Amino acid sequence: MARIFLSRKIPEAGMKRLGEFTGDFLVFPHDRPITENELIENIDDVEGLLCLLTDPVTRRVIEAGKRLKIIANYAVGYENIDVKSANERGILVTNTPGVLTDATAELAWALLFACARRIVEADRFTREKRFNGWSPTLLLGTELKDKILGLIGAGRIGTAFALKGRGFGMRVLYCDNHENEVLQKAIGAEMVKMEELLKRADFISSHVPLTEKTYHLMGKRELALLKPSAYLINTSRGAVIDEKALIRALKEGRIRGAGLDVYENEPKISHELLGLSNVVLLPHIGSATHVARDKMAETAVENLIAGLNGKTPPNLVTIPKTL
Ligand code: GLV
Ligand code: GLV
Repeated sequence: MARIFLSRKIPEAGMKRLGEFTGDFLVFPHDRPITENELIENIDDVEGLLCLLTDPVTRRVIEAGKRLKIIANYAVGYENIDVKSANERGILVTNTPGVLTDATAELAWALLFACARRIVEADRFTREKRFNGWSPTLLLGTELKDKILGLIGAGRIGTAFALKGRGFGMRVLYCDNHENEVLQKAIGAEMVKMEELLKRADFISSHVPLTEKTYHLMGKRELALLKPSAYLINTSRGAVIDEKALIRALKEGRIRGAGLDVYENEPKISHELLGLSNVVLLPHIGSATHVARDKMAETAVENLIAGLNGKTPPNLVTIPKTL
């Protein structure tokens, strides 16, 4: 059995670094997410596990990894790992923060613009050869200038997202557990209670990790507070929003639209959501740039190597972060 198990092939930058460290690794041969049972079958003798956000690293998996020293997640989010069980057994858990911040923040803007200016709808309209000439009222959208941007969570990604919007003349509100001086100083962002943010914002963007505290943070009650002209953007985790409640709000026109990169039961997406025209739907590609994925691969491998060498990995995760 190999000392290191990778639940999927990662970009070459990471494979190369790993190859320089050891030849003693095994990569799950299939190009699909691994299951819990398959992880258990492969983890018996392994000291280092490099896994993806799709992989259920449950207590069962952790207990099966009798020699396991480190679990290096190829993601910034790590709700797929039972960190508590790992920590109880002295197994290190790491993630890949920082390197995907810009990629994800940029994608949130792409979704926001796609919603505000109805880009996907307009593209479809054009391809369907329905463009019969310029019209004063064709596909009118929402202007960003003087509108209010509401951040749910102002950590690394939320902050980068808001700062990138500096040129658009929006006012920024945020809610978080901590004051964010960078946002306050740089763009005069205002920290408010979630309820106030939901009532005032024209665009609401989620940037919180998924934890017990943020599960269904936006439920029926919260969604009911949004303006009918509001758009909801989610590049964080699907389960932060109660998807059923969101679908109802969208169907009934109680909000204007949503731009989603993540879903509650990925990769399953509800048929109702697929049938709505006021949503833009992406297949969880927030960090999907060449640069970010290469750096994530290198970071995950660096963490793994540090842990196996008995050093403190640069991106050690202990208790789950809360909002
Ligand atoms: C992507 O969703 C990540 O958590 O890295
Ligand atoms: C209104 O929807 C606008 O153009 O801002």
